[in-house]
Amino acid sequence: MKVARLLRVKCVVVGTLISGEIDYNQLKKSLLANKDKPAIINLNIGTTLKGAIDDLDLVLQSLEDCGFTQDRFYIHCDAALYGMMVPFDVRAADISFKKPIGSITISGHKFLGCPMPCGIFITRLRHIDFLSSEKVEYIASKDNTISGSRGGHAAIFICYALNKKGFEGLQQEVQECIKKAIYLRDSLRYHGIGALLNKFSNTVVFERPQDDAFARKWSLASKGNISHVVVMQHVSQEMLDSFVSEFVKNRCAWYQGNNKQMKPPCVAEDIGAENCACAFHKTTISW
Ligand SMILES: Cc1ncc(COP(=O)(O)O)c(C=O)c1O
Repeated sequence: MKVARLLRVKCVVVGTLISGEIDYNQLKKSLLANKDKPAIINLNIGTTLKGAIDDLDLVLQSLEDCGFTQDRFYIHCDAALYGMMVPFDVRAADISFKKPIGSITISGHKFLGCPMPCGIFITRLRHIDFLSSEKVEYIASKDNTISGSRGGHAAIFICYALNKKGFEGLQQEVQECIKKAIYLRDSLRYHGIGALLNKFSNTVVFERPQDDAFARKWSLASKGNISHVVVMQHVSQEMLDSFVSEFVKNRCAWYQGNNKQMKPPCVAEDIGAENCACAFHKTTISW
């Protein structure tokens, strides 16, 4: 939205499915309603709140179905966190420059853990050449950023992190994070708290705790009825155990203490009926 405002281009917001993925039917409708213009599509390879990964192939199919040829669309893949994780998934082949995408961005300070905000932007040479096609002699390089200079430190930190962890090190970290995320989801469910964990994700989504002090203590990010925990490398099983046991203990007080009328909320609209543990849905769930 911010970039669209800066560039003064018309921006159409496409809704999402319960998983957090782009709503492919809505995307088609928006494409058909705007067929006279080319489309710039921002895909999420891991949404902020639910860690949902948009299906690139379905989006490409939608574009084709709506009559958008490759010269009439540009796809950017925002892979801020998951860009460092999806290569270790069998679906890695799904996101590739062998397909007609324009660019991918990956944060350096998220999964890689660089100590300052930084990131990687991968695009096609022709887009870089459009910005600056000639080498500037005195810097022996192309001037390929908007502002001109670029920080060398970030590149060094990213390179260092990649080399230090190595392919196998990163793979192991990814697998451990996902394993711990599954453990957290299952622990919450075991205690009757509905939770969503998207496929190949380390982001666990659950009902929003009713107590701001609790949410602050655990640095929970919330939106509407739901909160999430992003299980990163530093999160241990002990941390997860103590989070869940405190949540369960406090939850009893929130829902059965002073206000006996209050019931655990239904979050089916946020995380899906199959993941909701409210009184109405839990009878149908078999986790
Ligand atoms: C999906 C997504 N895109 C982009 C960003 C921002 O990335 P950066 O911090 O590298 O600017 C975030 C979170 O910070 C995010 O979750």
